[in-house]
Amino acid sequence: MSVIGDTIRYIRTWGTTGAVAPSGKALARRMVAGVDPRGALPVLELGPGNGVVTEALIARGVAPERIVAIEFNPDFAAQVRRRCPGVRVVEGDAYDLAATLRQATPGPFAAVVSSLPLLLRPPEQRKALVLDALARLTPGGSYIQFSYSPKPPVPESPGEYRLDGSGFILLNVPPARVWTYRPLD
Ligand SMILES: C[S@@+](CC[C@H](N)C(=O)[O-])C[C@H]1O[C@@H](n2cnc3c(N)ncnc32)[C@H](O)[C@@H]1O
Repeated sequence: MSVIGDTIRYIRTWGTTGAVAPSGKALARRMVAGVDPRGALPVLELGPGNGVVTEALIARGVAPERIVAIEFNPDFAAQVRRRCPGVRVVEGDAYDLAATLRQATPGPFAAVVSSLPLLLRPPEQRKALVLDALARLTPGGSYIQFSYSPKPPVPESPGEYRLDGSGFILLNVPPARVWTYRPLD
């Protein structure tokens, strides 16, 4: 895998990746900073692409065997399998967790880490995904999502979940914010 090769693949698939380049290491590290590496429950990754966030999860101490990654592009899925041995890569649609996770586990998950380009989908579909993911978390777990927009891809809804946003991670092209959704206690 090369930076140039990855960038070409992202540009070619822009319509579904929603990005012109893989996330940088600073953004990947920020994405996984809130994931507790201890415990036995699986961690669900949505849209691993070339595996940069998957690799950051492993570097944080999450055992590869605990990671279930859903990717619908077969080339990216193969790349993650090569780059991160032990990770369970499921080829399927992350917006249909019930169907796609039949090949793996329905949860509960310790955390859900998503790089999906949510803004390419209608608001109601984005929110349905976040609510579905939150319902699959163990207590204390969170749904973590990056976005290039200054606004959260799924807006605040205090009666349904808690939401925290990071500042812009400037060491990324383009800069991105990390949004953390948590179930209500
Ligand atoms: C912005 S890229 C992020 C890739 C990588 N995690 C990163 O941060 O560089 C989004 C990824 O989500 C995948 N993706 C988009 N829609 C998807 C869907 N409905 N189901 C599964 N994967 C999807 C794309 O193929 C792509 O790999």
